[in-house]
Amino acid sequence: MSHTQKNTKQAVVSRSLRCLAVGSGKGGVGKTVVSVGVATALTARGYKVLLFDADLGLANVDLQIGAEPLFTVQDVLYGDCPLERAVVSVPDGPDILAAASGIQEMVTMSAGRRELLVDELITFSAKYDYLIIDTEAGIGPGAVSFLRSMPEVYVVVANEPTSVMDAYSLIKILKQGTDGPVPEIQLVINMVRTIEEGRLLAKRLNGISEQFLNCRLSVAGIVLHDLVVGDAIRARRSVVRYAPNSSPARCLRDLAGFLAKPNRLRGGERGINRESFKHLAAVGSECEKEGGAS
Ligand SMILES: Nc1ncnc2c1ncn2[C@@H]1O[C@H](COP(=O)(O)OP(=O)(O)OP(=O)(O)O)[C@@H](O)[C@H]1O
Ligand SMILES: [Mg+2]
Repeated sequence: MSHTQKNTKQAVVSRSLRCLAVGSGKGGVGKTVVSVGVATALTARGYKVLLFDADLGLANVDLQIGAEPLFTVQDVLYGDCPLERAVVSVPDGPDILAAASGIQEMVTMSAGRRELLVDELITFSAKYDYLIIDTEAGIGPGAVSFLRSMPEVYVVVANEPTSVMDAYSLIKILKQGTDGPVPEIQLVINMVRTIEEGRLLAKRLNGISEQFLNCRLSVAGIVLHDLVVGDAIRARRSVVRYAPNSSPARCLRDLAGFLAKPNRLRGGERGINRESFKHLAAVGSECEKEGGAS
C-alpha cells in the first residue's frame, strides 16, 4: 500500500507469523498429506493456520481436506476476487486458500495489480500464526524459485531411491547458485514402516549431502506408512481427524509439536520474501505465453 512497503525487499510480516513451505523432489511422496495433517494438528493446538495450495498445476489440498471453495487463488490472481472471499474455513481445521487444477485460460494481470496482490497476501497472512504452503514437486524453476523465497522449507522424502535422489537434487539446487538467503531446510520422512527405517533413510540422505554439499539436514519428523491414509483421503479428511489414534496421525501430531516449538525464524527475523508471491503471480502469464496466442 505505502511506497516504503513496496520498496522493501523482504516483506513486512506479522511478528508471530511463521511461514513454512513443504516441497519434494519427486511427486506423490506425501507433501499434501503432510501439509494438511500438520495444518490440522496445529489448529487443534489452538493456532490460527492458513494452508495455501501453491501447486497451481495439480492442486488438491481442497480435495484432501474436504473443502469446497467457490473461488481459488487463480480467481484472486487473475480475476477480481478479493482474497478474503477465496479463503475458506474448514470445520476443526485450518483456513485454506485453494488453487484450481489445470486452468488454461488466464487473464493478463498488470504489474501494478501483481504488486497489489503481493501486499494483499502479506497483509492478510498477518492474522495467522502459521502460513503453510504446499508446493509443486520437482526441481523446475517454478518450484525452486518459490521454495527459495521461503524462510523454512520442509522436504518430504519417501523410501525409494528416486525420492532420495530427487530430494538431494532439490536440496542441492536450493543451497547453491543463489546470492539471496538460503532457506532453512529440514527433512520430513514419510511412508516408512518403522521409525528406525526413517532414521536410516535420513542418515543415507545426509551421507550424500555431507559428502557433496557439506551440510547435514535435521529431521523434523518421521511419518509412518499406513493404508488408513488412503482411507482418510477418500473420506476427504485429514488422517489426523479421520483416524486420530493411527500411527500416521500420531506422527503428524508429533511433527506439529516440533513446529510449535519456539523457533528463531518465527516473526519478522526473516519474513516471507515478496519474490515468492510475485512468482505465483507470474505463473499464469508464463502459462499464457506457452499456450500461444489465439
Ligand atoms: N504416511 C502414508 N501412509 C500411507 N500412504 C500415504 C502416506 N502418505 C501419503 N500416502 C499416499 O501417497 C499418495 C500421495 O500423497 P500426496 O498426495 O500427499 O503426495 P504429494 O507429494 O502431495 O503428491 P503431488 O506431488 O502429486 O502433489 C496418497 O494418495 C496417499 O495415499
Ligand atoms: Mg500434493
